[in-house]
Amino acid sequence: MDFQLTEEQLAVQAAAREFAQTELWAGVIERDEHQKFPAEQIKKMGELGFLGMMVSPEYGGGGMDTVSYVLAMEEISKVDASCSVIMSVNNSLVCWGLEKYGTEEQKRKYLPGLTSGEIIGAFALSEPEAGSDATSQRTTAEDKGDYYLLNGTKNWITNGTTASVYLVVAQTNPELKHRGINVLIVEKGMEGFVQGPKENKLGIRGSDTCSLMFNDVKVPKENRIGEDGFGFKFAMQVLAGGRIGIAAQALGIASGSYELALKYSKERKAFGVPISQHQAIQFKLADMATTIDAARLLCLQAAADKDAHRDYAKSGAMAKLFASKTAMDSSVEAVQIHGGYGFVKEYHVERLMRDAKITQIYEGTSEIQKIVISREILK
Ligand code: CAA
Repeated sequence: MDFQLTEEQLAVQAAAREFAQTELWAGVIERDEHQKFPAEQIKKMGELGFLGMMVSPEYGGGGMDTVSYVLAMEEISKVDASCSVIMSVNNSLVCWGLEKYGTEEQKRKYLPGLTSGEIIGAFALSEPEAGSDATSQRTTAEDKGDYYLLNGTKNWITNGTTASVYLVVAQTNPELKHRGINVLIVEKGMEGFVQGPKENKLGIRGSDTCSLMFNDVKVPKENRIGEDGFGFKFAMQVLAGGRIGIAAQALGIASGSYELALKYSKERKAFGVPISQHQAIQFKLADMATTIDAARLLCLQAAADKDAHRDYAKSGAMAKLFASKTAMDSSVEAVQIHGGYGFVKEYHVERLMRDAKITQIYEGTSEIQKIVISREILK
């Protein structure tokens, strides 16, 4: 097996690292504290090509592979996981799905704006009573001839208030169960479409998450993605790819925590020596470095599977399951290594610890990843 990155992949990694360190680091604590959406930073990410990395240049994208996307996601997540979740949803759940299954007209209409950062996309699947159980959609898209009448509520929508384009999952033919589900492109400003207030979250506080309400929203038929009833498969496919992005986000939170802890351990002295010379700290660093390397290999494996057009449902779920646990464990240990300093905001690690938790919840909880993995193993 060749574990070497190509020149292009290394260049993307270096560019993302440079951007994160120079443009995201300053101000990240304040954005977290005040739940400030990183509008300027996202605009720059669009200009640098981080919002439509895998989209073909024909539609304004970077035409890059999934490995490059994973590398960029790790670097950006090391510093600001709020920016990286916005990036991940836009790239994986919105742009990728639109390019793969959208009509030529839909692609030309939405992708150039989404890839350049002029507009942001959101993906609306979760509902008050349908999170993990995604087939139980209560939102309805009634077929009215040349339009769908959309009614219902969506919960926990990333980019909920700032997006302009929403891919909304809704039930058209309940008797067909998940085979009656459609995904519709809904634009902000459509009559009857209302966004709820921003949620006050534990972590990724710079990103905006809210509920969406649809009250008799008329969505033109040409806004449906794919054939009638294709919506659930579409959602499962974009989520399978999205899990690689969130795995890379978790990896970045883990490696960002580790890098801060390593640096601190060489500077901070206790009992006359830097704490890195104490075995208690060395063992923690060794565990962190080992699990982070393992998480990175799983992320790259899943990305390589996707790039080689191999099935990536299992490898993506494994990467997300393991990387999100690694993010949690490493960020907790980074706080512990920092001692009292780890418990205050200036040292960044408490924020990384809060941000880590969501990676075990969104785009399928850890329990959902185990369901996906075990089904693949047993089928
Ligand atoms: N690709 C294509 N099709 C797939 C698929 C995949 N990866 N996975 C499943 N399917 C298809 C199946 O083949 C099946 O189709 P047929 O019946 O036509 O053969 C259909 O989908 C239903 O599959 P299952 O019977 O496996 O469905 P299930 O109800 O048992 O549940 C599940 C499967 C894995 C639990 C699924 O419901 C799931 O993934 N749940 C979690 C949803 C989730 O991730 N929510 C997160 C919200 S988005 C988010 O968090 C974004 C954000 O803001 C950051």
